[in-house]
Amino acid sequence: MKVILKNIEKEGYDGSIASYISEGGYEALKIALKKTPEDILSELKKSKLVGRGGAAFPTGMKWEFARNSKETPKYVVCNADEGEPGTFKDRLILENDPHMLIEAMAIAGFTVGASQGFIYIRGEYFKAYDVLTAAIEDAVKNNCLGNNILGSDFSFNISLYRGAGAYVCGEETALLDSLEGKKGQSRVKPPFPTFVGYQNKPTVLNNVETLSNVPQIILNGGDWYSKIGSADCPGTKLYCLSGDVKKPGVYELPTGITLKELIDTYGGGVDGKLKAVLPGGVSSSFLAADQLDVKMDYPSLQKAGSMLGSAAVMVVNDTHCMVDLAKRCTEFFDYESCGKCTPCREGTKRAREIFINMSQAAGEATDIALLKELQDVMYDTSRCGLGQAAMNAAGSAMDKFPSEFEKHITKKNCELGICPMEKV
Ligand SMILES: Cc1cc2nc3c(=O)[nH]c(=O)nc-3n(C[C@H](O)[C@H](O)[C@H](O)COP(=O)(O)O)c2cc1C
Ligand code: SF4
Repeated sequence: MKVILKNIEKEGYDGSIASYISEGGYEALKIALKKTPEDILSELKKSKLVGRGGAAFPTGMKWEFARNSKETPKYVVCNADEGEPGTFKDRLILENDPHMLIEAMAIAGFTVGASQGFIYIRGEYFKAYDVLTAAIEDAVKNNCLGNNILGSDFSFNISLYRGAGAYVCGEETALLDSLEGKKGQSRVKPPFPTFVGYQNKPTVLNNVETLSNVPQIILNGGDWYSKIGSADCPGTKLYCLSGDVKKPGVYELPTGITLKELIDTYGGGVDGKLKAVLPGGVSSSFLAADQLDVKMDYPSLQKAGSMLGSAAVMVVNDTHCMVDLAKRCTEFFDYESCGKCTPCREGTKRAREIFINMSQAAGEATDIALLKELQDVMYDTSRCGLGQAAMNAAGSAMDKFPSEFEKHITKKNCELGICPMEKV
């Protein structure tokens, strides 16, 4: 069952407006414009679609909050920042089926009562930027965007905005600050963007993949969508499979398939002997090799002590040292911390220093307890998700592979020969 890649995987499909229309594109918008916003909200809620950007918030509820908000004007923002390491699913849509996203944003605008949308796109996505620029122009020429869309009294425009390479700008409130031309730093929540968003006005902010589901939900109905995949978290999901796997790539599969099926049936199996998996990018916690039966949906992975996040599934074989991986994850968060709040700004630095020391034979007996305390404090007190999740990968590596950390600290030994184990 393909919802998002249904066009992309067709022979000869080129993502142009002509090919999109020939596959039934913009029919959902035509239908939506004849419905009431309440009808559309009802279908979305029936679909049980939840956000694919990581937080898994129900999309119908998000749109309803914005719709019911009295403040005007309202805005629709698409989060195309895709900064989580190992995530490359949104790029596939942006480069190959941009009109699916444009159509979805117009439907969102009509539903919540917005006439302006923005796509905040990752700065390094040069090709996607060019494709989207041309697609927006074509949509305007074909009256699918602009004034009086498809002969209706609804008008909606989309502007593109490029990010400048900061991971935190994928976080919705930092993104909004960046979009307003300010330094990209997270805002305190609540209030949430649906009430106080772009220019402090009600704003629906959704991930590229989330939005791309909407045209098919309008065409086939919310009940149809709710029957795909897991009952409590239905639909399909784009899984980004990378690392030590034979066939890395983006796979669209129903939610609820197991991690084992994803790796073995679709990814061609592990390249080498499996050691661990990060199922939701570096913000998630490691799963051990004996946890492959976990279902790949938001509630199941949470129960398993990790998270699906953006579904950046990174497979790790037994040639990798967990201390080295913990160190590298922590370096990433230290580099990307925006510095606005103390627990994250200082915590990521201290954690990075401790892991560097451990990898250079300067680890101390108290390190593990100190890191655990740091993890708890950062989780409880950091201002945004970056700091709250910064120690997930490192903390779970310590929990699941304690003897590797122990050997680095007490025996000053990296058995796999990856850490330098001397001052560098
Ligand atoms: C540090 C950080 C980075 C994030 N990066 C992204 C991103 O690149 N793309 C994205 O869609 N969501 C990202 N998110 C999640 C967004 O804050 C937000 O939940 C999401 O865009 C909402 O859309 P959705 O409801 O469709 O998932 C990030 C969150 C955090 C804390
Ligand atoms: S948690 Fe980190 S990224 Fe988020 S506001 Fe605090 S310092 Fe900035």
